[in-house]
Amino acid sequence: MRTVTKETITAAFLAYCGDDTNPRLRFILEKLAHHLHDFARETGLTHAEWRKGLELLQKTGEITTPERNEYVLMSDVLGLSSLVDMINSPDIGTPSSVLGPFHILGAPDLPVGGDMRQDNDGAAVIVSGYVRTPQGTPIKGAEIEIWQTADNGLYSNQDEQQPEYNLRAHMVVGEDGLYRFSTVRPAPYTVPDDGPVGELLHATGRHPWRPSHLHFIITAPGYRTLVTEVFPSDDPYLDEDAVFGVRERLIMNYVEQTSLDARPDGLDIADRLTVPFFTVDFDFVLAEE
Ligand code: BEZ
Ligand code: FE
Repeated sequence: MRTVTKETITAAFLAYCGDDTNPRLRFILEKLAHHLHDFARETGLTHAEWRKGLELLQKTGEITTPERNEYVLMSDVLGLSSLVDMINSPDIGTPSSVLGPFHILGAPDLPVGGDMRQDNDGAAVIVSGYVRTPQGTPIKGAEIEIWQTADNGLYSNQDEQQPEYNLRAHMVVGEDGLYRFSTVRPAPYTVPDDGPVGELLHATGRHPWRPSHLHFIITAPGYRTLVTEVFPSDDPYLDEDAVFGVRERLIMNYVEQTSLDARPDGLDIADRLTVPFFTVDFDFVLAEE
């Protein structure tokens, strides 16, 4: 197309794609060009605004390292990560949620009933539940990875004061599908806001807080891997998670226990537990592959 106009530029872009373009790539580029061009047309994007956007992308690249991916964080605070996650999540079973950047491989094995709390400060919590099918059958041998922040709102890989695998565990459930562990209440925390993502948040009057949560990855042969998080119902940031990870069905309750008689069975921490402590019950339902 020789004479390109505001109206024809989208079609011209598509016409430039060769016939042997992968059909899925063609479809994605078609939609991208359509929405991107409409975005510029509908906003009447100025040169200054266009440059500002490109500068934001440049700064995002400059601050990105293998340890800190500002692009992922940008996608998170724009709601894109959660949206992609929801689009690809089966309707059946426990909803998925964002993985986040603080997961590390190699968490130590913890038996069912084991103590992940160790020497950490903070209120003691016993978390229990079943890994099961949508029909209620226990999924024996399901593997669970758990990670969370300490009482100070930091993950072990953000805080030199914590041992490498602090508040991280890998558990294999038994015949009955039960998982159980003792831990501390995780704290709410802020996503990094000292870079371009922070600039965007501050410019739009947004805070960088996430509600406190426990992260889980659950795998079992024949079932879809579930990457998710569980949030307490009393968290002040539940309705304003900076990365849009909260789902109604991922909300749990801390139940305060004032008697040791309320200790669930089979806890390593049983003799060291003092009142009050909290219990949480949350089942994970895996969709078939
Ligand atoms: C997290 O839950 O660990 C997390 C998720 C997205 C951005 C930053 C942190
Ligand atoms: Fe997290």
